[in-house]
Amino acid sequence: KGKRAFIAGVADDNGYGWAIAKSLAAAGAEILVGTWVPALNIFESSLRRGKFDESRVLPDGSLMEITKIYPLDAVFDNLEDVPEDVKANKRYAGSSNWTVQEVAESVKKDFGSIDILVHSLANGPEVTKPLLETSRKGYLAAISASSYSYVSLLKNFIPIMNPGGSSISLTYIASERIIPGYGGGMSSAKAALESDTKVLAFEAGRKHKIRVNTISAGPLRSRAAKAIGFIDMMIEYSVANAPLQKELSADEVGNTAAFLASPLASAITGAVIYVDNGLNAMGVGV
Ligand code: NAI
Repeated sequence: KGKRAFIAGVADDNGYGWAIAKSLAAAGAEILVGTWVPALNIFESSLRRGKFDESRVLPDGSLMEITKIYPLDAVFDNLEDVPEDVKANKRYAGSSNWTVQEVAESVKKDFGSIDILVHSLANGPEVTKPLLETSRKGYLAAISASSYSYVSLLKNFIPIMNPGGSSISLTYIASERIIPGYGGGMSSAKAALESDTKVLAFEAGRKHKIRVNTISAGPLRSRAAKAIGFIDMMIEYSVANAPLQKELSADEVGNTAAFLASPLASAITGAVIYVDNGLNAMGVGV
């Protein structure tokens, strides 16, 4: 029987979430996605108008099908969390059931269960500011959107995840090494995400036989990365200094996610898997 995946954090065809969806689809999984509420309309209409058709092509020539798109805002766990100004916001008022708990309930109602949960989202409103200039509000917002969002997703989806299921998030080496420019508490958020991967692997493994891993990905020119402002430099640095001197493709991360979600990885949990052309192993650039 084919597996069903829910991928949170797909709003165009440039990011890791899209590439992971494609690799999972190519391996035969049914694809559900969670799209950030403010990005929902443009994503759905672009998809409908065929704007992504070229990048929907799978290795066998068929087009990836997304069975259903759910609006999602992963900084809100349930309706009680949502402030009035957000409720009144035109884009948010235009859709419903987008808090994490409500999305999990909708997926349960529509499909009953899932096998694979992917968290491919992050947000740090002050990412361009050095940590020393980051406000408490900005720091906590980064942690809320980029780290707790994963705890919340897993918490709410575990009850509908089949035993033997697999959960994957995306992290970045700025959690453990100094990457100037990755500010606003985003480095802190990734450190939390990686530490949580271990604790969640224990709790979800013992209770529900679910594996929890994170992929530490190299630089990709996604929409989110472009907003940070240094992505071209990071890609150049990696090509110049990594053991494998090539630009990383999103598909390489997608394929790793498909492996981690498959029975081939049945003993891998609590791991940070580097998919970065080996850059993490270097001690000095040469
Ligand atoms: P992306 O822009 O494709 O994905 C980020 C997604 O998060 C977007 O679709 C955005 O709409 C969504 N999002 C933001 N706030 C949200 C919220 N509150 N609720 C729901 N969705 C929300 O960019 P990318 O780079 O593919 O990011 C995916 C993951 O990969 C992130 O965790 C990122 O930190 C990680 N990553 C990216 C690297 C890169 O160089 N692009 C390197 C290493 C990790």
